Amino acid sequence: MPTVAVKWIRPPRLKLYDARKDSALMKKILITGAAGDVGSHLRRELAGRYELRLSDIRPLKNLASGEEFIRGDCASLRDMLRVTQGVAAVVHLGGFSVEGPWEVILRANIVGAYNAFEAARRNGVRRIVFASSNHAVGFYRRDETIDHRVYPKPDSRYGVSKAFGEALGSLYADKYGMEVVCLRIGNVNPRPMDKRRLSIWLSPRDLAQLVSIAIDRPGLRFEIMYGISGNRRRWYDNANAERLGYRPQDDSEPHAGEVLQKEKTGADPRTELYQGGTFVLAEDGGDPTRAPVKPQSPKARARKTKAARKRK
Ligand SMILES: NC(=O)c1ccc[n+]([C@@H]2O[C@H](COP(=O)([O-])OP(=O)(O)OC[C@H]3O[C@@H](n4cnc5c(N)ncnc54)[C@H](O)[C@@H]3O)[C@@H](O)[C@H]2O)c1
Repeated sequence: MPTVAVKWIRPPRLKLYDARKDSALMKKILITGAAGDVGSHLRRELAGRYELRLSDIRPLKNLASGEEFIRGDCASLRDMLRVTQGVAAVVHLGGFSVEGPWEVILRANIVGAYNAFEAARRNGVRRIVFASSNHAVGFYRRDETIDHRVYPKPDSRYGVSKAFGEALGSLYADKYGMEVVCLRIGNVNPRPMDKRRLSIWLSPRDLAQLVSIAIDRPGLRFEIMYGISGNRRRWYDNANAERLGYRPQDDSEPHAGEVLQKEKTGADPRTELYQGGTFVLAEDGGDPTRAPVKPQSPKARARKTKAARKRK
């Protein structure tokens, strides 16, 4: 048998998959909770890179080309089995996005996350990007720098639901060989809104970069990345995201002067101490320096939930 010389070719450097160059290769991605804030930024930023299947419990109008919509409730496994069919990856955003009553968090975020992972598994979808939150680790202090290896210190029931989603992701990766990326998102906004958010701001284009890495980077098993831009004032060591190829394009610092000028003084010092800000107080018994719990009327609770929505 003649021997065949095999030339060793250096593998190309990892590049983010950019389906715009070859529409025939476009992956179909499911975004749950697509009608919300983050979903709206992602739809715009990811347009043309992937085929987008959008899903939400609310109706969604004005679909662009390359988008389809299937209404679905994460709390229904049947719905999730329907919406996860035939997609390459799931970006799971659907759920209640601030602190709220336990029954609401339980249904939308805990049962919802379970159904998203379980439906993906049953439909053979290997890759899931889970929208976790800074509130999964909100009881770390602001004078600490934390990385992806710290144990969760949730600042709310909402934060607990995000820690649950991360744990579920770890289980599905280890037990079923799924590929799971948890993004501990800071705050997605075109501009940072206040002093706290100078540290945790995530611009829409940096969000899109992180999500693309989470969808396309080969060979992942279970990863946690912080969803923040390259903010000079960050509290997170985002080395794991950088290892996976993240190169943030934005930094909140150019906005700092304007933001700090508008910042109201007299904020509660306890909210200033912790990374989670007002979430450490936003509920019954939320004062970390004092026990026991002070009961709250359902009306007062609803008022607080409404106010918290503006501060996430
Ligand atoms: N906005 C941020 O900066 C931020 C920060 C950290 C984490 N996150 C997480 O990212 C995700 C998206 O956040 P957002 O700001 O867009 O929130 P949002 O409240 O604007 O959107 C959430 C969407 O989920 C949908 N939803 C709620 N319950 C549902 C259910 N049972 N089934 C299906 N859909 C349901 C809502 O209709 C809504 O459109 C959330 O999981 C949130 O916890 C967001």
